[in-house]
Amino acid sequence: MNVDSIQQRIHELRGTLKGHNYKYYVLDAPEITDEEYDQLLRELADLEQQLGKPVPNDSPTQTVGFKPDTAFQSRKHAVPMLSLANAFSDEEISDFVRRHKDILADNEPLIYIAEPKVDGLAINIYYEFGQMVYAATRGDGITGEDVTDNIRSVAGIPWSLTGNVPDKFEVRGEVYMSKASFQALNQKQQEAGEKVFANPRNAAAGSLRQLDASITASRKLSFFAYATGLGGDEFASSQNELLQKLGQQGFAIQETALLKDEQAMFKHYQTWMKKRPSLDYEIDGMVFKVNDFKQQKLLGAVARSPRWAIAYKFPAEEVETVVEAITWQVGRTGVITPVANMKPVNVAGVMVSRATLHNIQELARKDVRVGDRVVIRRAGDVIPEVVKSLSIGEEHRVESTPVPEHCPVCDAAVEQEEGEAAIRCTGGLSCSAQLKERIKHFVSRDGFDIEGFGSKLAESLVDKGLIKNIADVFNLDYEVLSTWEGMGEKKISNLQQAIESRKNIALSRFIYALGIRHVGQATATSLAQHFQTLYALQHASEEDLIEINDVGKEVAASLIHFFMEEHNLQVLEKMFKYGVQVQAEEVVEIDSNHPLVGKTVVITGSFSNIKRNQAKILLQQQGAKVASAVSKNTDILIAGEKAGSKLKKAEELGVQVVDEAQLLLWLT
Ligand code: IVH
Repeated sequence: MNVDSIQQRIHELRGTLKGHNYKYYVLDAPEITDEEYDQLLRELADLEQQLGKPVPNDSPTQTVGFKPDTAFQSRKHAVPMLSLANAFSDEEISDFVRRHKDILADNEPLIYIAEPKVDGLAINIYYEFGQMVYAATRGDGITGEDVTDNIRSVAGIPWSLTGNVPDKFEVRGEVYMSKASFQALNQKQQEAGEKVFANPRNAAAGSLRQLDASITASRKLSFFAYATGLGGDEFASSQNELLQKLGQQGFAIQETALLKDEQAMFKHYQTWMKKRPSLDYEIDGMVFKVNDFKQQKLLGAVARSPRWAIAYKFPAEEVETVVEAITWQVGRTGVITPVANMKPVNVAGVMVSRATLHNIQELARKDVRVGDRVVIRRAGDVIPEVVKSLSIGEEHRVESTPVPEHCPVCDAAVEQEEGEAAIRCTGGLSCSAQLKERIKHFVSRDGFDIEGFGSKLAESLVDKGLIKNIADVFNLDYEVLSTWEGMGEKKISNLQQAIESRKNIALSRFIYALGIRHVGQATATSLAQHFQTLYALQHASEEDLIEINDVGKEVAASLIHFFMEEHNLQVLEKMFKYGVQVQAEEVVEIDSNHPLVGKTVVITGSFSNIKRNQAKILLQQQGAKVASAVSKNTDILIAGEKAGSKLKKAEELGVQVVDEAQLLLWLT
């Protein structure tokens, strides 16, 4: 690679990684696995080294996490919270040990302590004269969010310390959710039609960052202490001693081992890899630390992580099971997906019995058949997937599952559009599977947001014929409903109230709830902002529609098609008859202290986490004027990836230039 392309790739990686940090730390909804993240981070670190130029402070290789949310008070950590470098092979552990031997004096005894790497989120708890004063999340490593009220209900954290402890003392560790609590929580969430968490770590993060501490308390979080910040040096002289003493103070600590060389570390790692599935909490590797604090000091830290510690990560957990059936699942827009139904197995702490096979091409490529022994994997955040089939030899296997020609639910013909991987049911709303998904989407949090209207209820209502189209949500026969098992008076009146209270709805939510193909939340918001009324949207021509930034030909066609269909118009009419009132888009109140108020802003380049149009809307809502060209009147240029002439012009004019990370901070 030449210097230019290295620089280009560095730029790209920084943007991507910042985006992933935001999704992980702020949204609690990572899109890639830890392994994929680590790979990108390593590539960036390598390139930065190759380039040999000073690395800016805000490069993801130099920072930890993301600047905290503003809903919670910020807390500056007395001593910054570092992160750990990762290793993925024995060789990397050998390198780690060699580096220590190179730095420390010859023949100096070197002992390592091994601790499991708990998969949760790091917390710093500050005690003054033995009393807990506050607890904060790691945030960006320098400043975190104050979550003291929420921390108080976490098991394994004493509120006060006794005996000989430093006057000012920071104790650090991981807040996590046990596998059992995680499963119980998700079951509850699902029944209530609320968000289901991808894994225990997201569940822990989401639960800790609740503004209502009683919700956190109901979520059953736990804690393991593994480090100190301020005051640590005077409290203990080695990691082993530190953990023992923290244990005596009432902190929960993990099982640890002292190891004398790399051979012992390899063995220990293997032992724990086997032990991992039987633990009642998730771990994603082993942490090896130099035990002696004096030696730790000598070794010091590089950028974001100490030289004396490393996380030896486990590979994604893979297990074998048998495919019992291949079934077809029909989604909201009619897409039919093959699903492998398997003998239930425990993968990385979660019982798995179904895994998507994505689409018919994928099914053919992996050649998975009923009766096959398969390898399945659940890598951190990712939904379970079939890695491969282990069965070979045609004579021992049943035939491949045929691609359905008719919808498995409603029997309508199946079609495949040109250039698309998906096959689709043509049954539309007469297909009960599509209708069920439509209803779930319609009442979901970003749609009509009807509390207590969960998936199960939606399915039963369709199965029992109480709902024939989305409008029927507002025309439920409560008398029939009250004869159903589990439908007590209180439940019914709550549901009725929830439905009534949502009949007044903002246009953007309404458009989104209709579930028109290709119209997601951002597009729905743009449409609502632009047209203001349903009437105007309904009567917009293709030209009117594509005038809007993120509306292309495909979206426009889909909208026009939707509003042309007679049955859709009937459904809309019914909703209005039942009392639904669509409100023009609410004008968001401007926070007069927001740094963007009155500023003239130009957006250029592409962003990985937000659509330009959506950014524009949000910027306007914060009181900024969004202009299209850079001039001497421009206050700020927000430059995404591949920013070109506007960036150059802004630099010439001395206009302030910020990146996507800053944009996201302003908008959250
Ligand atoms: S020590 C100076 N020990 O892993 C090093 N971290 O990737 C501070 N973690 O931020 C961390 N178990 O959230 C340490 N036994 C353990 C850990 C552990 C989990 C987490 C922690 C940290 C992250 C680093």
